[in-house]
Amino acid sequence: MPLSIQSLNEAHAREMSGWHYDAPYDFYNLSLNEIEQNIHYFLNPQNNFYGIFEKQEFVGYCSFGEDGQVPGGDYSTPGLDIGMGIRPDLTGQSRGSCYVEAVLDFARQTFAPPFVRVTIAAFNQRALRVWYKVGFRAVKTFEHQTQGVPFVILIRDAGRTSKDCEKSLLVK
Ligand SMILES: CC(C)(COP(=O)(O)OP(=O)(O)OC[C@H]1O[C@@H](n2cnc3c(N)ncnc32)[C@H](O)[C@@H]1OP(=O)(O)O)[C@@H](O)C(=O)NCCC(=O)NCCS
Repeated sequence: MPLSIQSLNEAHAREMSGWHYDAPYDFYNLSLNEIEQNIHYFLNPQNNFYGIFEKQEFVGYCSFGEDGQVPGGDYSTPGLDIGMGIRPDLTGQSRGSCYVEAVLDFARQTFAPPFVRVTIAAFNQRALRVWYKVGFRAVKTFEHQTQGVPFVILIRDAGRTSKDCEKSLLVK
């Protein structure tokens, strides 16, 4: 199994705090003035952050629950919210859908949710394509409560899995 989801340690949290995405994805860059607060946030068990590892190499993170919600969205229906980010140097290499499948497998095993949900900035066509590809569908569009940025909420039942990912990662 090439991918695993494991707990984060402080070194991982510190590394994530410094990840830098090029425009237009710099939207996701964290403030370098708030490194310690962000590390604390990532390591707080209530925020359910985990690392994504490929043969023990730290390649991304995922989160489950309120961290994945965006202010202004309607989260009144049941569903497990998922947040995710791939290490900047590994983005744009067709890894997204396999990583998402691994995160969904972990979510099913750990939280057994009826539905899984993700909230994506509407400009981020790259991310939207990945989540559509693994079977999510858009259910609502809204604007961030304070920033006015448009976001899309996508949802899927949690029950399905794809077996193609291990193969496609192994041939890389
Ligand atoms: C979002 C993310 C998971 C996507 O994974 P990825 O491995 O980088 O994406 P891929 O390389 O698989 O690209 C996905 C699709 O978008 C397409 N794509 C790439 N750039 C694009 C663009 N600017 N506009 C439209 N489509 C684009 C790719 O061609 C690919 O399409 P295909 O599956 O039909 O071939 C990853 O980039 C990431 O974690 N980014 C961090 C920041 C972020 O965007 N977070 C959003 C929350 S998930």
